[in-house]
Amino acid sequence: MKKLEVGILGATGMVGQRFVSLLEHHPWFEVAWLAASERSAGKNYAEACNWRLREPMPKAARELSVHECKPVHAPLLVFSSLDSKVAGEVEKEFAQAGHVVVSNSSNHRMEADVPLLIPEVNPDHLALVRLQRKQRGWKGMIVTNPNCTTVGLVMSLAPLEKAYGLEKVLMTSMQAVSGAGYPGVPTLDILGNVIPFISGEEEKVERETRKLLGKLADGHVHPGEFAVSAHCNRVPVEDGHTESISVALKAKATLEELVEAWRGYRSLPQERQLPSAPKHPIVVREERDRPQPKFDVGVEHGMATVVGRLRPCPVLQFKYTALSHNTIRGAAGAALLNAELMKSEGYLD
Ligand SMILES: NC(=O)c1ccc[n+]([C@@H]2O[C@H](COP(=O)([O-])OP(=O)(O)OC[C@H]3O[C@@H](n4cnc5c(N)ncnc54)[C@H](OP(=O)(O)O)[C@@H]3O)[C@@H](O)[C@H]2O)c1
Repeated sequence: MKKLEVGILGATGMVGQRFVSLLEHHPWFEVAWLAASERSAGKNYAEACNWRLREPMPKAARELSVHECKPVHAPLLVFSSLDSKVAGEVEKEFAQAGHVVVSNSSNHRMEADVPLLIPEVNPDHLALVRLQRKQRGWKGMIVTNPNCTTVGLVMSLAPLEKAYGLEKVLMTSMQAVSGAGYPGVPTLDILGNVIPFISGEEEKVERETRKLLGKLADGHVHPGEFAVSAHCNRVPVEDGHTESISVALKAKATLEELVEAWRGYRSLPQERQLPSAPKHPIVVREERDRPQPKFDVGVEHGMATVVGRLRPCPVLQFKYTALSHNTIRGAAGAALLNAELMKSEGYLD
């Protein structure tokens, strides 16, 4: 099969680098076009990018020119990991010019006609793009993935919601520094410290969770009818957001049944064997002190949500810990899986 050429907006950033790395041996897509700010435009990628990943920069990317973020000679499919200060307008410009924009940025996630997708959880919400194109008169489209903190929470809640219904959710995050981009949080602020504030994060988690677990009917998403409260903290961890979660369910369940619901969870990406889909979207650890980012962040190539420490909660009903890789499942890997779902549905033909 001839690979589809793809572009990356914001290719020089933390998430952009993940895209370049994850796409190196992708069976369906190959990187052909890169763009970033005017500081980087005109240079080749090796010059423009301060590569921060352990894996070496792919040879094929080194010599590619970095362009300005203008829809000139860009391929049909463009991934976006642009700074949210500019993502809103740039992504619209590309969609208007006929491009399929698969974005990580928060700017368009909550717009009523923009799909906010986790392919395992709500693949049917992709159908919103038909309405989006009609309403906006676009040839292209914008599809988004959730915030890096939302994704682990929602992956772990989805099988519980499906089997028992959700009533209340309380989540406290311990978020890695790579979630703040590069250079991110100053060393003197984060070393030996916890910062109990990440601007806009709690609101994003609360809104996005209800949209993702909502039902698409009559052309719009009816948000999930449960309460969500998020506390978000930045901690001195390199990669991987850890979350302490308490839930109250609508129907009765036992601890064993919840573990079974997580272990048995499979969905469309697994059925279709999409290239980036984890075989086990949720991995359950039995040890009393797991998951931990140091040991578990790379499970299923960073695409699974790792859960553990399930026990009764005296305030709600159950409590547990979840872990998700923030720049893979929480960003570039999530967008890649969205694009694979779209290709398997014929949106990229
Ligand atoms: N890091 C995560 O874990 C994570 C997870 C989920 C979502 N996100 C979202 O993904 C996006 C990127 O995050 P990041 O962590 O990769 O940030 P980052 O490391 O700061 O990278 C930002 C990228 O945007 C480009 N850019 C900045 N200003 C620009 C401008 N005026 N015009 C065009 N391009 C511009 C930068 O290009 P230059 O290098 O040329 O400046 C760089 O490529 C953000 O919207 C973020 O909220 C991040």
